[in-house]
Amino acid sequence: MLSIGNIPIPSSLILAPMAGISDQPYRLVNRAFGCEFAFTEMTSAAALAYRSGRTLERLSILPEDRPLGIQIVGADPEILKMALDVIHEYSFDTIDFNAACPVRKVAGKGKGAGLLLEPLKLQKLLKVIVKNTSLPVTVKIRSGWDETSVNAVDIALCAEDAGIQGLIIHGRTRDQRYKGRVDYSIIRKVKEALTIPVIASGDALTPALVRQMFEETGCDGVALARGALGNPWIFPQTMALLQNGTVLPAPDIDEKIRVIREHLAATIDFYGEKLGVILFRKFMAWYTKGLPIKELRGKAFGARTGDEMFHLISRVQAHIAA
Ligand SMILES: Cc1cc2nc3c(=O)[nH]c(=O)nc-3n(C[C@H](O)[C@H](O)[C@H](O)COP(=O)(O)O)c2cc1C
Repeated sequence: MLSIGNIPIPSSLILAPMAGISDQPYRLVNRAFGCEFAFTEMTSAAALAYRSGRTLERLSILPEDRPLGIQIVGADPEILKMALDVIHEYSFDTIDFNAACPVRKVAGKGKGAGLLLEPLKLQKLLKVIVKNTSLPVTVKIRSGWDETSVNAVDIALCAEDAGIQGLIIHGRTRDQRYKGRVDYSIIRKVKEALTIPVIASGDALTPALVRQMFEETGCDGVALARGALGNPWIFPQTMALLQNGTVLPAPDIDEKIRVIREHLAATIDFYGEKLGVILFRKFMAWYTKGLPIKELRGKAFGARTGDEMFHLISRVQAHIAA
């Protein structure tokens, strides 16, 4: 069984960190479908260190949302130490350090994927984190900065040497962002080079692609990202395929509507009605992707109140049933 340090992870399917997406309501929806380990959204070490109100509000943890890793981003050792002090006030199970974020305002400032250009600096930062926490530490990396500097194996060895307990690799370069195909071969090389567990990420979009990831890379776990957007059913579907080759049917419209309603209610509970409805609009688009409701989907982006959004969901159900 996969474990991150002393934390057993009963399933090898993991919910990937996604900024603006992996909040508590989203994680809980996926937990209900068999997700056993998840990460928070990427959280700024500085925002933690200086106790930004909005950041702290989002750190609340429910027992059913564990084991849970907090993902942090930063590049200043002193700030990281201060951030750890705050993290230790909460019941996170692991800490993941982001060396993968491609966004210019992060990577361009030597944080996130910017650290792929400085393996020794990354190693130093990981040592600081490992030394100042008793929680298992992981790092999330990409295959390299660009196609001329694919250095994931060196990076991974430096990271392992720093004392981390697991590594997540997105098999694309920083330059690729989310485009192009994932590179299975670099993930395999990283897996073969390390003794700690390796969790693979990239193009885990369908059960068949998740199975392909396991087969092509020999990884210990797969992180589901875009494949789980509006699609928590990917967890049981993938488990069924991996365990006995069974292809489970897609959910029917009533099941979809049930989950959409629950997710909306949880989002409103967590953020309050105004912000909750705004944040839910994108989930509505993902849940209804592929349904023949073009005009109704557009209306989701105009919904302002919980009533309006719930009413729209009922219209979608009626439209599909008709
Ligand atoms: C909207 C979005 C937000 C993301 N945010 C994060 C993040 O905060 N931290 C992180 O490590 N990766 C983040 N990722 C990357 C995913 O965790 C994952 O590695 C990537 O999407 C590749 O997997 P996929 O091709 O199966 O989607 C994000 C991806 C997307 C699409």
